[in-house]
Amino acid sequence: MTDSKGPLNVGIDLGTSHCAVSASNGQRQVIESYVGWPVDMVARKVLKKSVLVGTEAVESRTMVDLHRPLERGLLKEGSEKDLEAVKVLLRALLGLAGVKRRGKDKTHVRAVVGVPAEAMRVNKQQLRNALEGEVDALMIVSEPFAVAYGLDALLHSLVVDIGAGTTDFCVMRGRFPTEDDQRTLDNAGDSIDELLLKQLREKHADAQLSIFMARAWKEAHGFVGEAQQRVTVTAPMAGKPTKLDITDELRSACESIVEPITETMRDLLPRVEPEFQEKVRNNVILSGGTSQIAGLRAALQAGLKPVGGGKIKAVKNPVFEGSDGGLALAIDAPDSDWDKLG
Ligand SMILES: Nc1ncnc2c1ncn2[C@@H]1O[C@H](COP(=O)(O)OP(=O)(O)OP(=O)(O)O)[C@@H](O)[C@H]1O
Ligand SMILES: [Mg+2]
Repeated sequence: MTDSKGPLNVGIDLGTSHCAVSASNGQRQVIESYVGWPVDMVARKVLKKSVLVGTEAVESRTMVDLHRPLERGLLKEGSEKDLEAVKVLLRALLGLAGVKRRGKDKTHVRAVVGVPAEAMRVNKQQLRNALEGEVDALMIVSEPFAVAYGLDALLHSLVVDIGAGTTDFCVMRGRFPTEDDQRTLDNAGDSIDELLLKQLREKHADAQLSIFMARAWKEAHGFVGEAQQRVTVTAPMAGKPTKLDITDELRSACESIVEPITETMRDLLPRVEPEFQEKVRNNVILSGGTSQIAGLRAALQAGLKPVGGGKIKAVKNPVFEGSDGGLALAIDAPDSDWDKLG
């Protein structure tokens, strides 16, 4: 893909919950989008590090000031610490991809970074600043576009990327998508976790529950439609492990995203040229971690019936589809399409 003297091309998927990198040297890595700084000298002594990234940061959450800087898909405005956290994440990803920027054998890096469609408008400049000095050439694209590019689904398709912070939609018309071709909703994995936690707290006032528990239960048992079996989990009540039946709350939390996503698809489709609408309806691509909820693909496909029906297929590898697409784009992009940094 690239010889040892050529630039290293990388595709980065900058997600709310996971960041993935695919590089032209064959490296593919994923980390959780968390950064943590030890809170005091005791924490520093225990952790023996000045900053922690990914799973290590989450697992040490009692000892660190924990940041998830891309919450809701955007770099939270005005927060220096979040901006710093994004830099730490990007540097960690590039490091995992084998990039060396210090010393004399400096890797020449061209990076395509996929971000939620909405973030393209608001925070492009912040992202550019965060990557200053870390890469030589940069291209910022929307996440669903990167997925479409990687799958070569560039014409008459609709990509629906259901992540953690946002669900991003992008209609592909055989060219770079415009703002009109894209939509972003806040209904995604995080909103399911929050709703599940809220409903469980209302039903079991004595149970000690956290957002991390809600997320883990959703990932293990999440479903929409009729339950195949009851879902029972264990949580402490006044310190005592107790069994809870969460079937109904889990179903309604997972189903909360179906209607908004269906409505948005139904809103985007009539904007496609009339003679191509059927093609697009039959070429809907579902990506993102939340697309793995059992029964979701079928429920969304059923939602297309009132507008003539359609076909929705799920991508094979929701973890790396975005970063692989970014890498494919980096390899193909002519010099003129890059934003030069450094
Ligand atoms: N097996 C599973 N079933 C249901 N949900 C899952 C499963 N595995 C992961 N998820 C959820 O998928 C989401 C993460 O997906 P993904 O990595 O695509 O998001 P992201 O790219 O970080 O977020 P965004 O695109 O919104 O910025 C999380 O909400 C996670 O809980
Ligand atoms: Mg994503």
